[in-house]
Amino acid sequence: MEESYQKLLRNNKQWAASKQKEDADYFKKLSQGQSPEYLWIGCSDSRVPANEVTLTQPGEIFVHRNIANVVIQTDMNLMSVLYFAVEILQVKHIIVCGHYECGGVTAAIQHKDMGIVTNWLRSIKEIYEHHKQELDAIESIEKKERRLVELHTIEQAKNLGKTRTVQRAWKKRPLFIHSWVFDCCTGIMTELDNKVTCIDDVEPIFRYEIE
Ligand code: CO
Repeated sequence: MEESYQKLLRNNKQWAASKQKEDADYFKKLSQGQSPEYLWIGCSDSRVPANEVTLTQPGEIFVHRNIANVVIQTDMNLMSVLYFAVEILQVKHIIVCGHYECGGVTAAIQHKDMGIVTNWLRSIKEIYEHHKQELDAIESIEKKERRLVELHTIEQAKNLGKTRTVQRAWKKRPLFIHSWVFDCCTGIMTELDNKVTCIDDVEPIFRYEIE
């Protein structure tokens, strides 16, 4: 088998050995279960690994990633992850992490047919349409894309507030939804000014009567 593939398994042995060396009980503790405080919803992009960019360890972040960190209510995968994280693991924070240079957002701004990915990214076009005036006024395509990444990330955090899972949790306890954007050019994360912390932050039409 080719070297670039074999390398991964070799690296894993090294990693396991070094963890064990740091703390003899490391894997014993890890095997006892997880109680992460955070749910991360990020892009599948290989340049934005949740644990690495936040200096966190296995067990600390529950992770869902998809192309362009899209939150769609008919996505059974994401909705199950959300339910499990909020109801069972009782996470305190949900972080929607977008990133500049996002290929998904770039594709959404263009007109190429990319098969099923075109379907997946369509809601980003709708965000563009919604903010057309602001985005059309930005001449630089790079700046336009960066702004769309921000607007899209904010919208996905809002989408979480529109779910029954989140609204049910708010009835019982605090749950904070954050919008972050990672810059691959600097490694720096920016916290966007978008508060989704209680039912008052959700448009009234999306509020449910929850027992
Ligand atoms: Co991306």
